[in-house]
Amino acid sequence: MDQWKDKVAVVTGASSGIGRAVAFALLEQGMRVAVCARRLEKIETIGEEAGHPERFFAKRVDLRNEGEVHSFFADVKNHWQPVHVLINNAGLGYAGTLDSQPVSEWREMLELNVITLSLCTQVALTQMSEHDQDSHIVHLGSMSGHRVPAKSNGMYAASKYAVRALTESLRQELHETGRPVRVSSISPGLVETGFAERYSGSAEAAKKTYRALHCLQSEDIASAVLYVLSQPAHVQVHDVLIRPKNQAL
Ligand SMILES: NC(=O)c1ccc[n+]([C@@H]2O[C@H](COP(=O)([O-])OP(=O)(O)OC[C@H]3O[C@@H](n4cnc5c(N)ncnc54)[C@H](OP(=O)(O)O)[C@@H]3O)[C@@H](O)[C@H]2O)c1
Repeated sequence: MDQWKDKVAVVTGASSGIGRAVAFALLEQGMRVAVCARRLEKIETIGEEAGHPERFFAKRVDLRNEGEVHSFFADVKNHWQPVHVLINNAGLGYAGTLDSQPVSEWREMLELNVITLSLCTQVALTQMSEHDQDSHIVHLGSMSGHRVPAKSNGMYAASKYAVRALTESLRQELHETGRPVRVSSISPGLVETGFAERYSGSAEAAKKTYRALHCLQSEDIASAVLYVLSQPAHVQVHDVLIRPKNQAL
């Protein structure tokens, strides 16, 4: 990870779960880390908690608001310099079936998981072209972008299949243009985070889901992020599929 020391990383959705663990891991590795989420109170102390407040920047952002996304990235650049690493982590799912789920939930999943991820990629690429140095974009995909298990949420899976397609099309675009930007995806199975409570709408149901098997922890996913970032410049890890040992599908 020496290549990234003092370089600027943006982590979207760092107020809980995977994004929070990744922010801590990148600070630990000597990067300057900028994070965003809607719950400012959950992100503003990360730098101090990690013991590196001088290398930390947090801003309240609703990532579904295009203007707020642009303003966040502009603030990061003005605070330090253009971004080198983008961890496109923010994402959510709502349980529901295609024959009855409210369209508003479809919109939110597709907006955040697909459109926002692509917007953040676009804005980061613009900043990366300003320094034209080695850079990396990491998408948080999902095993739900690789298979559709029974009783799964169709629209959530569709959003994560889209992330998988976007990873490959970005790889091809970057190959065509010869830019020094790598792209990788991490595709987890069940990770114990805030995801299941939002998904099911119930803290009890979330507990039951996470108690059903020895699931992954956010730190396991942060390790996978460090693995893809720490490869030498000629190595591009395309996707990391990572499941709990006891997860069947
Ligand atoms: N947990 C799993 O089993 C699992 C499995 C596969 C893939 N993933 C993927 O991993 C990623 C992280 O999820 P997680 O499991 O860590 O879930 P989480 O604990 O619920 O974290 C989701 C993060 O996204 C942020 N977010 C949601 N809507 C936002 C918005 N409109 N604007 C700004 N930030 C927003 C949340 O912050 P605020 O609510 O404070 O805004 C939170 O920080 C997601 O892309 C998810 O699809 C998770």
